[in-house]
Amino acid sequence: MGENTIALEELGDEYFQDPHTFHAALREQSAARQVVLPRGLKVWLVTRYDDARLVLADPRFSKDHTRLAPLFDKHLAGQGDRVHVDQVLAQHMLNTDPPNHTRLRKLVTKAFTARRVDQLRPRIQQITDELLDEITGRPEVDLVDALAFPLPIKVISEMLGVPMDRRDDFRRWSNILVAGTEPPLIEEAGAAMAMFLADLVADKRDNPGDDFFSALVHATEDNDRLDHAELTSMAFLLLVAGHETTVNLIATGVYNLLRHPEQLAKLRADRTLLPGAVEEFLRYEGPVNQSTFRFTTEEVTVGEVTIPEGEFVLASLLSANRDENRFPDGETFDITRPAGGHLAFGHGIHYCLGAPLARIEGEIAIGTLLDRFDLGLAAEPETLRWRSSALMRALYTLPVSLSARG
Ligand code: HEM
Repeated sequence: MGENTIALEELGDEYFQDPHTFHAALREQSAARQVVLPRGLKVWLVTRYDDARLVLADPRFSKDHTRLAPLFDKHLAGQGDRVHVDQVLAQHMLNTDPPNHTRLRKLVTKAFTARRVDQLRPRIQQITDELLDEITGRPEVDLVDALAFPLPIKVISEMLGVPMDRRDDFRRWSNILVAGTEPPLIEEAGAAMAMFLADLVADKRDNPGDDFFSALVHATEDNDRLDHAELTSMAFLLLVAGHETTVNLIATGVYNLLRHPEQLAKLRADRTLLPGAVEEFLRYEGPVNQSTFRFTTEEVTVGEVTIPEGEFVLASLLSANRDENRFPDGETFDITRPAGGHLAFGHGIHYCLGAPLARIEGEIAIGTLLDRFDLGLAAEPETLRWRSSALMRALYTLPVSLSARG
């Protein structure tokens, strides 16, 4: 422990601009290493594939939000800020353990059926076409702004039945909540979002539509249903999980294709490669860097490292997905490799509920973009900036040059 404390590494901007080099070194050195996150929190970072799966699926790594708050205070190093995100929003199922988690997940799965997701295909195609119509004829655009950001937010807003005139508010609040820079702003946005979502739940209860959220409000299982607070926090989880992540599947996926022209050419030559390519986008540089927080409920040994009870642990999904022991030549981007088994959507009971939807959105967005345009990177890769977020691997912008294909 003593040595670890002295060697404690702060994850600064250098890390966020290139996490892969740091991860590769860490995978070599140790199964787990304590680091300090930008807001001052001390966590154990787990970077190897098998260990990351253990952290994600073993019940000794808990996500119970009711026990998390005191731990935050204990593990803040130095001047860190404690952020009180609205309590109602924080109690969603990604912050719970069984049996609560089992119950919440069962109810939401009833509404979030594969059929309901598959039925969204034509609408996702239509939104993509409209967004691409808007940029046709322009020589250069920021693809985050033009496609990667608006597509998933439109899809999830429609699923939740958020009225058109509130979508800008919505986008602003969720940006603040996910980017998480200024604590007072976060608390304000959290309170506004909680109030808005609570109203939305009440509205769906009284005036159900045929949207997914109405189905969720009215979903029952063994005479059980979600109460008002649970629905509010579930809406919040779906919103944040459903739009901040898919943005990066699209933007980072296109970025990596443009950086590897031979892979792009392969995909253009054989479009049946697209579903496999999307899996490789997720493996090689997925939207989630480190998983959400877990804490040890007892002393746990990960590889050769013993982590005491009551410590925060993060599994790095980016790192696990490049572990040479699981993915030979893991640092190589190859859209034809078998990328199955990657951890980009997590693993275990919290495995991403929205994975089928995210895959459909990624395939439609990137497939349609390639059908309609020839494109290239319109900036030197070194000048592009990645967000300093422990959770998300996210480009701020992706400038591309475009010309419509005949
Ligand atoms: C959970 C990734 C899109 C809803 C997760 C987790 C990951 C993840 C890694 C587990 C986190 C952990 O265990 O700490 C992604 C990625 C996406 C994506 C990479 C896009 C490419 C979506 C979408 C939705 C969604 C579109 C919903 C519309 C959820 C929910 C959970 C979750 C509800 C919590 C599940 C639970 O606690 O049982 N996601 N996600 N995600 N995701 Fe996604």
